Amino acid sequence: MAFDQINPAIPALTKTRDEKARGNFLRSFRRHIFEDLARVMREDYATQVASRSHAQGARDAEEIHRLMRQRSSFQFYSALRVASQDLLYQVVRPPIERMYRVSASTAKSTRSAKGRARHGRTARLHLEPGLPVPRSVSAVDIHLMPGSYTAAYADDDMAMGAVYDARLRISTFGVFGPDLDDIGQSVAQHLRALKPDFQPRRILDLGCTVGHNTLPWRQAFPRAELHGIDVAAPCLRYAYQRANTLRMPVNFWQMNAKHLQFPDHHFDVVFSSMFLHEVPKRDIPVVLREAYRVLRPGGVMLHMELPPASAIHPYDSFYLDWDGRYNNEPYYRSFRAMNPRAAVAAAGFKPHDFFEWVVPSQHAARFIDPLVEESPPESTDDRLGRLAQGVKWYVFGARK
Ligand SMILES: C[S@@+](CC[C@H](N)C(=O)[O-])C[C@H]1O[C@@H](n2cnc3c(N)ncnc32)[C@H](O)[C@@H]1O
Repeated sequence: MAFDQINPAIPALTKTRDEKARGNFLRSFRRHIFEDLARVMREDYATQVASRSHAQGARDAEEIHRLMRQRSSFQFYSALRVASQDLLYQVVRPPIERMYRVSASTAKSTRSAKGRARHGRTARLHLEPGLPVPRSVSAVDIHLMPGSYTAAYADDDMAMGAVYDARLRISTFGVFGPDLDDIGQSVAQHLRALKPDFQPRRILDLGCTVGHNTLPWRQAFPRAELHGIDVAAPCLRYAYQRANTLRMPVNFWQMNAKHLQFPDHHFDVVFSSMFLHEVPKRDIPVVLREAYRVLRPGGVMLHMELPPASAIHPYDSFYLDWDGRYNNEPYYRSFRAMNPRAAVAAAGFKPHDFFEWVVPSQHAARFIDPLVEESPPESTDDRLGRLAQGVKWYVFGARK
């Protein structure tokens, strides 16, 4: 899908011909970095570094990083990745800033998360203007995104949601599928294939941002009530607008995952995607305990995440950790050092109810046989979590 497609949440957003051309260039540039330059760097490691480093004892990602920093293959890859990240925002922001106040009159907020939304659209938006935004979100320009998820140009602004959506479309160069929802699609359909009799009534997505991976749950389980929470109001306004345009009845709530405003045993599924690695290490146990509390017995918790360092080859760990070092992802590496099994048990789940899945991308497989096997992560799988064609998604979780 080209960058110049109409934005479903803001059909009025216009781009000049130059802006469209820059977007299309950047998309190809990113693909070149993530596919070609990544392959060159890997070959350089295998042929020039690994054999010698073995003698020197390079056994972990830290050591590989120390050795690769000397290599021009790594320096070139890194320089172009940082430059492309910077260019991303230069390319996507001007059309959005032209609109400046992109909030729609339909994106009305309600003061209380417990209050009823008053509009009659399909989706619902529940904002909590007094909610403190954690500094882990407000004080860090995550993935070098100026203003992070929460900056606002005006009241009722959804510009940062629009920026997130537009930059993801370019930066993932098609790997996430035309609706940028491959993770939600793949994980929800995997669950449905594994548990054909499971009929969830309520599903919760933690850290949903603009709802890319929230909406597919409705497609997999059309009768379920769907809820997404996030602390970032601009992203939630955009999520609401996007879901309404797509006629998807989703409830979006401004809420901290550490303090869920839902009763005990309220949900059948608690899901997240690419969320926990942006949560400080000390807060993850709190988030997992909250997930446990709101799950009903028999329910399922699922987190699509970066694979733990212990599950993959040290080179792949070094490769994934790049974002933690150079892309303003301060919690990445501590998250990858965590033992998911132990973290889930500490939240209250029984150890034998823990599971790990490797879920093939539905988009990459162009609709694979949905009856994929439940399987543990393969330690040699270099596609796990990597942004490249043929990616596979790592998921951990537990049944309650
Ligand atoms: C990488 S994004 C998640 C992407 C999204 N799940 C998806 O699949 O497209 C991380 C999100 O987590 C949100 N977030 C971070 N800490 C949070 C918290 N404690 N409670 C709720 N949301 C939080 C951020 O505002 C941001 O929107």
